[in-house]
Amino acid sequence: MKQTYTFNFPTPIRFGAGVVDELADYLKGHKLKRPLFVTDANVADLDFFEGIKKQVEQAGMHVAVFSDMHKNPIKSDIIKGGEAYHAAQCDCVVGIGGGVALDVARAIALRVNHKRDLFDYDDLIGGDQYVTEEVPHFITVPTTAGTGSEVGRSAIISEDETKRKRILFSPKLMARIVFADPMLTMGLPPFITAATGMDALTHNMEAYLSKGYHPMCDGIALEGMALIAKSLEKAVNEPDLGSRSDMLLASLMGAVAFQKGLGVVHSLAHPLSSLLDTHHGLANAVNLPYGMKFNYGGFEGRFDHMGMALGLGVNNGDQVVAYLFELNRKLGLPIKLSEIGVKQKHIEELSVLAEADFCHPNNPKPVKRADFKALYQEAL
Ligand SMILES: NC(=O)c1ccc[n+]([C@@H]2O[C@H](COP(=O)([O-])OP(=O)(O)OC[C@H]3O[C@@H](n4cnc5c(N)ncnc54)[C@H](O)[C@@H]3O)[C@@H](O)[C@H]2O)c1
Ligand SMILES: [Fe+2]
Repeated sequence: MKQTYTFNFPTPIRFGAGVVDELADYLKGHKLKRPLFVTDANVADLDFFEGIKKQVEQAGMHVAVFSDMHKNPIKSDIIKGGEAYHAAQCDCVVGIGGGVALDVARAIALRVNHKRDLFDYDDLIGGDQYVTEEVPHFITVPTTAGTGSEVGRSAIISEDETKRKRILFSPKLMARIVFADPMLTMGLPPFITAATGMDALTHNMEAYLSKGYHPMCDGIALEGMALIAKSLEKAVNEPDLGSRSDMLLASLMGAVAFQKGLGVVHSLAHPLSSLLDTHHGLANAVNLPYGMKFNYGGFEGRFDHMGMALGLGVNNGDQVVAYLFELNRKLGLPIKLSEIGVKQKHIEELSVLAEADFCHPNNPKPVKRADFKALYQEAL
């Protein structure tokens, strides 16, 4: 083995019911006085958000809130957020919410001291070379269990006009600490629980199959799948603290694992969000069984391991695809693209966008435009 590798698992994570109550003390301990809370407009209205804000204010800090963002966030959201940070003379950024809020918070943390055009920092054009240490103290508090963006080092932000997704990336954009409190996810509605949970499952499966060499991520991904197989249905249909905790962990684990890479399913899903504003997790959920069917041949051994993790028994990798269709059905999610507004006329454009996406180069099998077309067609 002559090649060398870099394995990263550095984010400190406080995990468990009630850990968010430690935020005020943490800020104080780091002499931070003026946090910018970044969240979306929905979460800003939830009781727990008001509760966190009050706790921090009662500890003597001034909290500014920025919540003006699109469902699939765009560059101008980030510019506005940067302005809000300066206007309120903030000294740190606390992202509280789902993947959208956390990605926006991370991009704002980049923006405040990095004044080049935002997309100069695009990873695909080597933008991380411009990211300096001048990133304000950045903290994440996830409130969905799906993207794992809380432990990520990237933010997916779209161009205002074209809606093309761009990926801002730098290890310097990692949170300094994560407060992962499953209590915050207790009130997630069933549909969001299901869709975000399927995003987490997709991360774990695609990371496990992806081309990179990373046995540590592989182990994490398999355990992430096992937690989801055990708890996603329960979290959707009769949630309790145990199932919510499992899902929050599995989501974190998926994101830790996908530093190894993702694959064809995320490349199928991203254009649906760009073009039709489909929720990211939902787009993955529908495409996951088809993408896994595409990947099966030649990777039977890997599927056997995934089947074991999913509780299908020994050497039953060939049942993974059927399991995924059935899981979507049990969670009340669609299994056809036509059920989420995709029409025949969209397939050409979706396929062009999917081919240009940044995820599939890590898929275990090469994926060509004709493959994307065939996959969309099959799922229609
Ligand atoms: N940076 C990364 O590594 C990474 C990885 C995957 C996905 N993403 C991005 O994450 C985004 C999707 O994130 P998401 O799936 O978490 O969706 P989301 O952030 O849009 O949240 C889904 C919905 O749930 C609501 N919500 C959040 N927390 C809630 C709570 N506790 N109770 C009730 N409602 C709540 C939100 O207001 C929103 O309406 C996409 O923009 C995607 O590109 C980022
Ligand atoms: Fe995802």
